[in-house]
Amino acid sequence: MATRSRTGHGSNTRAVAGDSRRRAGAVSTPIIHSSTFSFDSLESMLVERDRGAAGAFYQRLGHPTLRACEERLAGLEGTEEALLFPSGMAAITGVLLANLHAKDHVVALRQCYGGTLDALHWGKERLGWSCALVDAREPESWKDGFRSGTRIFHIETPTNPTLCVVDIEHAAALAHRHGALLTVDNTFASPVGQKCMPLGADLVMYSATKSIGGHGDLLAGVALGSRELLAGVYNVRSVFGAVPDPQMAWLIERSLKTLPIRVERGNSNALELARRLAKHPRVAQVFYPGLEGHPGHEIARRQMMLGFGPVLAFDVRGGMAAAERVVNGLELVRHAPSLGGVESLASLPAHTSHRHMSPEELAQAGISQGLVRLSVGIEDVEDLWEDLEGALGAA
Ligand SMILES: Cc1ncc(COP(=O)(O)O)c(C=O)c1O
Repeated sequence: MATRSRTGHGSNTRAVAGDSRRRAGAVSTPIIHSSTFSFDSLESMLVERDRGAAGAFYQRLGHPTLRACEERLAGLEGTEEALLFPSGMAAITGVLLANLHAKDHVVALRQCYGGTLDALHWGKERLGWSCALVDAREPESWKDGFRSGTRIFHIETPTNPTLCVVDIEHAAALAHRHGALLTVDNTFASPVGQKCMPLGADLVMYSATKSIGGHGDLLAGVALGSRELLAGVYNVRSVFGAVPDPQMAWLIERSLKTLPIRVERGNSNALELARRLAKHPRVAQVFYPGLEGHPGHEIARRQMMLGFGPVLAFDVRGGMAAAERVVNGLELVRHAPSLGGVESLASLPAHTSHRHMSPEELAQAGISQGLVRLSVGIEDVEDLWEDLEGALGAA
């Protein structure tokens, strides 16, 4: 399924063509390696300078190769603006720093990416922010996290690694009722897998290291939203100098052209593997919103597109030792801690993203010692299944 933009183009077309009306010249964006730009008059210099992120004035403030990628991203997401960053964390901290003053308060999901929780903790110690963590699995309790001075409700959906699904519309209504912004880290679903803005999000962020880049070869991030809200984020980016260079911007723009087909294929492979894993005798439980028995299945059906995401998790009978044997026994699926790429990757959250948690904290978060997280790529699904079956059989 392709979502249609205001221009009438579907997401596949927008990914390939952008919203460009250009008919002549290079079909690929030229990479302009220039740290600064010269002018034949003061007037023309002032015009470019004042165009900010859209201008060709000085590379840290924005440059044409970066802008081409940002315009394609904004077109795909359906937002006025997009700003690229050199990592997902740079985009997320850019949004936090732009919107929080000393003593401001944030509500965030306990299940958010660990780096985001670390950033909030850092802001608490260094900048006087305060933060309430609420459980993604208990939406009726989220309101208890809010108080006067809450400026942001920050969510992710599906969450890592147990794939809880959060109702974005419900989260937006709650945030707005309390005068807060809803910020969504949409990394797991990708820009073509879930449209957060029509559901009420104010700002959307991605680790572009994942599906957007998609080939395990770059680190980047993006923040998207209205021109007004991104003005503050642009200031933070310019002040801290967190700007991807022309080569990186070009690589991300090139990757965007295949984003919908990569996402669709990874998602359909993930659904097929989730269904087969759910019937495997060595697997105690599968976490995947595409499965009908998953508690968030109905919400995911409503708010996700092109399937249910490339990431699933499964609990191996026999606990951590058995899960370690499964991961060590995989031959095609690589053992690595990222997600959303063309290649399938497996990791053990108890040893990677959640290694700082005690066994009690892991249990409270619903993460068993035997949990394997699988990011499903675009390989032939039968080859992936043969690999998984072999590793499970030998564990
Ligand atoms: C959901 C999510 N958000 C943000 C990040 C941070 O992105 P990056 O590693 O590009 O800084 C990650 C990284 O794994 C992630 O999984």
